[in-house]
Parts: sequence; C-alpha cells; structure tokens
Amino acid sequence: MRIRLLDVCLIGLLVLTACGRKEVPGPAPHEPTPFELDIPFGFPTKLNIPADNPLTVEGVALGRYLFYDGRLSGRTHPDSLMSCSSCHIQSNNFEPGIDHPVFQGGFVHGINGQQTHHVVLPLVNLVWNKSGYGWNGGIATDNPDAAARNIEDIVRMSVTAPDEMAGDTSRVKALFQSLDGYPGLFEAAFGSSTITFKNIEKAIAQFVRTLVSANAPFDRYLRGELQLSQSELNGFILFTTEEGADCFHCHGGGGNPLFTTHLTYNNGKDSIFNDLFDRFSITGDPMDKGAYKAPTLRNIAKSGPYMHDGRFATLEEVIDFYSHHVLLTDQVDPLMHHAIRGGVQLTPNEKTDLLAFIRTLQDDDFLTNPDFARPGKFPDEP
Ligand code: HEC
Ligand code: HEC
Repeated sequence: MRIRLLDVCLIGLLVLTACGRKEVPGPAPHEPTPFELDIPFGFPTKLNIPADNPLTVEGVALGRYLFYDGRLSGRTHPDSLMSCSSCHIQSNNFEPGIDHPVFQGGFVHGINGQQTHHVVLPLVNLVWNKSGYGWNGGIATDNPDAAARNIEDIVRMSVTAPDEMAGDTSRVKALFQSLDGYPGLFEAAFGSSTITFKNIEKAIAQFVRTLVSANAPFDRYLRGELQLSQSELNGFILFTTEEGADCFHCHGGGGNPLFTTHLTYNNGKDSIFNDLFDRFSITGDPMDKGAYKAPTLRNIAKSGPYMHDGRFATLEEVIDFYSHHVLLTDQVDPLMHHAIRGGVQLTPNEKTDLLAFIRTLQDDDFLTNPDFARPGKFPDEP
C-alpha cells in the first residue's frame, strides 16, 4: 500500500514536471548559430537581411560550398559544371576579370554558349543594397511590385537563365540530395535534411551577404591608420567636388563608404538607345533610356571591362570619357553637371591624381580573404 502510494506520488510528480516542460519550450534540437556581421567603421547600420533568412554560421558555410560547387548547374559532366564562381571570381572583385581564359575580354556566356545581356557586376558589400540589383536595378527590395526582389531571387534566376546555368531547380535539388554530406549540412542550417530549392537560395544569399570589403587604403586612411600620398589626396578632393571631377553624387565618397548609391543614371555615353534591358525596360519612363546602376568603385581596377556593355577596357579610358566625351542629350542625368561642355575637362595631372585616388579603394584583404575563397573540398569528397 505504501509503495503504491509512493508510485502514485511519483507518477503525479512526473506528470507535473512534464506539464511544466510544455509551458517553457526548450531550445529546438538543431538551432543554428547566429553569424555576427561586424559593421565596419563609418558604414551604414541598416542591412538588407530578410527576416526569414537571418545569417547563421551553418547557412553561410553551406552557401559557400554551393557558390563554388559546379554541380549547381544540375549536371555532373565535367563540361557542364557551372556555379556562381564561374563568373564571380574572388581575386577579380567577384567578376570574371578581363584576362579570363574562357570569357575573352570579360564577356561571359552561359553553359549553352549564349552571352549574357551585360557584363558581370561585382559581389561586394551587397548586404547594404536595398534599392536595386542588376545593371538596371530591376531587382529591388524596396519595390514591392518587383517580381524579383533580393539575392535569393538572383540565385534562382542564375540557375535557370538560358544565358547562365540553364538549369532546372528540381533537378538541382535532387542532385544535391543525392550527394553525401550535403543533406546533413542543410539539416544543420535549416533544420531539415530534405533539400528544397528555397533553402539553396537562402544559403547562397547568406554567403553573398558576408562578402564585405572595408579594408582598402582609403578605409585605413579614414580610420587614421595610414596617410595617403599628396596625389591620392588631390584625387580625393577632385572626386568629391563639383568643380573638380564631380564623381561623388553617383558613386559616393567620404560620407558614403560603399562608393555607390545603388541608383541608376544616364551618364551621357550615347544618344541612340537600343539596349532592351536598360532602366527604361523596368520603368517605361523615356527619360530612363540608357540609364544603369552606378556600380561601386571598390576594387574597380579588377572589374574591367567597364560600363554595362564593357565598352571601356581601362580606367584611363573611363576617365577620358568623363573628361571629354560626355554627350548632352535629353536623357543625360542632371547630375552630369559638366555635360554642357562635354565633360569635367581634367588636365593630365588631374587625371593621374584621380586615378591614384580610385586605386586607394582596392582592398587586397577582400580579394584574398580565405573565408570567401573556394573551400578546400566539397562535402561529398573524402
Ligand atoms: C554566366 C555567368 C554568371 C553566373 C554563373 C552567375 N552570375 Fe551573377 N551576374 C552575372 C551577370 C552578367 C550579372 C549582371 C546582370 C545584369 O544586370 O545584366 C550578374 C549579377 C549578379 C548580381 C547582382 C549584383 C548587383 O550589384 O546588382 C548578383 C547578386 C549575382 N549576380 C549573384 C550571383 C550568384 C549568387 C550566382 C550563383 C547562383 C551567380 N550570380 C551566377 C553573371 C553570372
Ligand atoms: C550622374 C551619375 C554619375 C556620375 C556623376 C559619375 N558616374 Fe560613373 N557611372 C555612372 C553610371 C550610371 C555608370 C554605369 C553606366 C553604364 O554601365 O552604362 C557608371 C560607371 C562608372 C565606371 C565603370 C564601373 C563598372 O563597374 O563598369 C567607373 C569606373 C566610373 N563610373 C567612374 C566615375 C568617375 C571617376 C566619375 C567622376 C569623374 C564618375 N564615374 C561620375 C554614373 C555616374
């Protein structure tokens, strides 16, 4: 009888404890580790990280594998491999580079040999970009009407676009499901070893958001860690003054460490517009003909060829254009203040100084950061 009473008490205690447990939920079994993205000195604190895809250590690690794994094309034959890194190469500011052995002159083509509409854009500091991805800014987080709005969407577009991987999302997810090691990494990052294409998108987008460049000589100058040369300082003043080279309105400057506004402008190169994928194709506003995003100038020496169509091979040519060959058209942006006299008319010395300053935006730590590099081996490799 006594024992029975004790039993009843014990059972009661267990039930109570169990109820108590239900009220206070414990940690989920595979809680991923938050990834702390440090905001560099002087950088904006507002980040473009979707609420349903926070950065996690596991997600970023998985995204890095997928970014570099040529089987993202959904194929395994050595001739049919393609991933983000086929066109976005770290040492070239995540662009192909003008000296690429396959993509001659920096003009890339997809797996079927079809050239992309425009040259490649760099993947740098995109976690700060809300207002426009792509040369025409058509993929925009701050535009609720845009069909594609963030890096997650760009992953899907790159995998399926005929001029990129020409792949099929079902085939891609089935392929990774069958590769040893990958399902476990998806489980660690997203709590399920059943691979969905959504989670492929999320992981790669997380990795891309960690690609932060903030240690160029110019950054170190702003932090008081090094002095710039007189020529570089002269170039900085030219860059950031209207009566000088007048670059800062569209490409940022001292107060904008991103060196882009992420906005689109017509910078006065043409008077006839026949590109079907310019800003006009997004807005339908005739004043947007020939308008494109002003890309970041960080690591720009690595990003040739220049402009959406790669018409300039060197930065010297770009500076000559802004100096002497700007066209005054109906569409040219009002911020091209010197269009009326054909450009900012820099002297040879001023051109040298401006170029010297632009080169201080090259962040070699970013271009060689091992965290951003191709992983030593893929999860299914011994
Ligand atoms: C075949 C070459 C190619 C491949 C492969 C490729 N890209 Fe791109 N990427 C481009 C080109 C070209 C552009 C510019 C497109 C445009 O705006 O016309 C671009 C633009 C982008 C942009 C926009 C950058 C900005 O500042 O607006 C992002 C982000 C991007 N790619 C990420 C990726 C990711 C992630 C992958 C892999 C899933 C990938 N790309 C695969 C060629 C490629
Ligand atoms: C009115 C805005 C505006 C001003 C002012 C301006 N730019 Fe640009 N810049 C752009 C746009 C827009 C593009 C891209 C145009 C295109 O692709 O057709 C661009 C492209 C570039 C590129 C090529 C980027 C790449 O990745 O291909 C460089 C380099 C550049 N600008 C440097 C400068 C310099 C230096 C100055 C000052 C002398 C300057 N820009 C002034 C808007 C501007």
